Amino acid sequence: MAPLEWRDSFSVGNAHLDEQHKGLIALINLIDDANLTGPVLDQLQDYVDEHFRDEERLMEEAGYAGLPAHREQHAAFREWLETSQQAQRRGEVAALLRDGMQAYLKNWLVNHILVSDKDYAPHLK
Ligand code: FEO
Repeated sequence: MAPLEWRDSFSVGNAHLDEQHKGLIALINLIDDANLTGPVLDQLQDYVDEHFRDEERLMEEAGYAGLPAHREQHAAFREWLETSQQAQRRGEVAALLRDGMQAYLKNWLVNHILVSDKDYAPHLK
């Protein structure tokens, strides 16, 4: 897979959140190596714990009306992550897990970060 690259057009107008999103892109690029699915899943857990917390707090402080629906999308990501962690623990074929993770995370970038995250951007103070 060609490495994903950050573009300024991805920005949500908050440097801290942008850095976290850049970190996710770096993780997606690491998954090219099927041996790294385990460590990437561990780092995705940290990403979820820190980034979703920070992002939801900023949306809450901004009184963003789309927060409940956004939280639901974050919850769906958490469920996917838990399912992927279980597959990793079961020893699922690494290449299959890698392919599934790449597909899900690229879809998340396009349909969550570039749509749902961009939607709150004008509302952040
Ligand atoms: Fe940046 Fe809503 O995740």
